[in-house]
Amino acid sequence: MPAQGGDGIAVTSHQAPPPTTDGRPSVAVVGAGVVGLFAARAAALAGHPVRVIDRGEPGRPDGASWVAGGMLAPFSEGWPGEDDLLALGAASLGRWRAVAPELGEHVVTARGTLTVAFDSADVADLTTVAEWVGARGHEVEMLGRPALRALEPGVGGRAALSCPTELAVDNRALLTALVASCRALGVRFTTDAVADLEALPEDRVVVAAGWASSALLPGVSVRPVKGEILRLRRRAGSVPPPQRTVRATVNGRAVYLVPRADGLVVGATQYEHGDDTAVTVAGVRDLLADAERVLPGIADYEFVEAAAGLRPGSPDNLPMIGPVDERTIVAAGHGRNGVLLAPITADAVVAALRGDVLPEAACCSPTRRSGSDRPQNLSRTGAHP
Ligand code: GLY
Repeated sequence: MPAQGGDGIAVTSHQAPPPTTDGRPSVAVVGAGVVGLFAARAAALAGHPVRVIDRGEPGRPDGASWVAGGMLAPFSEGWPGEDDLLALGAASLGRWRAVAPELGEHVVTARGTLTVAFDSADVADLTTVAEWVGARGHEVEMLGRPALRALEPGVGGRAALSCPTELAVDNRALLTALVASCRALGVRFTTDAVADLEALPEDRVVVAAGWASSALLPGVSVRPVKGEILRLRRRAGSVPPPQRTVRATVNGRAVYLVPRADGLVVGATQYEHGDDTAVTVAGVRDLLADAERVLPGIADYEFVEAAAGLRPGSPDNLPMIGPVDERTIVAAGHGRNGVLLAPITADAVVAALRGDVLPEAACCSPTRRSGSDRPQNLSRTGAHP
């Protein structure tokens, strides 16, 4: 790892650092996405004076958190072989149950996920996931058509993988709640672009800048993985949105419908195209077609928004969380799971500020051998060129 971001606690070339609380070092968090805000909140709760820096306004960060779907889905996103990611996600989902009431129950928009199957190949794939996840002690179940219809009458499909303990959150309400919680804890916010970690006056720096973290920490491998996503509003007389998150694979492409108070978020494409955030015609066309297969009544909804975000992809699908030098901690590379993994990441960051390793996140050491350089689950999601 490079010696990025300073040479220790007292750096005479920096401006005078902000005062410490009870002797705890001051912390600058670079990135006001969900991961950065959770880390800032946890550091403030642990007694550190904290400042968050982002190019976007507080609550409207410049990154994937604003665009996200908000699924907390370690089991339905699970895939045989990714045992560390499953365990990490399950541990963070457990933390979500404690933290959601603190942030406001309105943030949670769905309880339970159904991944529907349209053909026998889908049933076989979902059965594989169900057996793998179930064997690791998590609550999952295959449902036939009658049980699926009883739970979600408007949803198509002949069977479904049910993950009843998964949640979904409204990512934008979450960002607002996190900023409010941080402010109440005394966290300061600065709207700025950080180009040089050395110039930050704080004692410690947490880099939580998503895919852009590599530019600040060149030894940390995070790459942009584009995702397009739609927001649809239910109109008077439209079929109601499902109560649960509903997912499927349609024409080889993954699609998910995540409930919101006023409608649905439909996501997401996944492909690698550098830092391009243009929304393509093909992306919108395919998402709408695939979502309509899942919920035929969707055609009557109002089209509100199409956006693209850049997931921070890591070489092995696990995030990098931990120190890269005496002063700097990285919390990046969360891929498809940033919202899910934010609470456990925050605990791991606070442990790192103390000089400890959170055992549940030990697999996320930034100095680990990251294995193969394969892209994230692309075989499952279908890709746009
Ligand atoms: N978390 C779902 C996605 O990245 O599309």
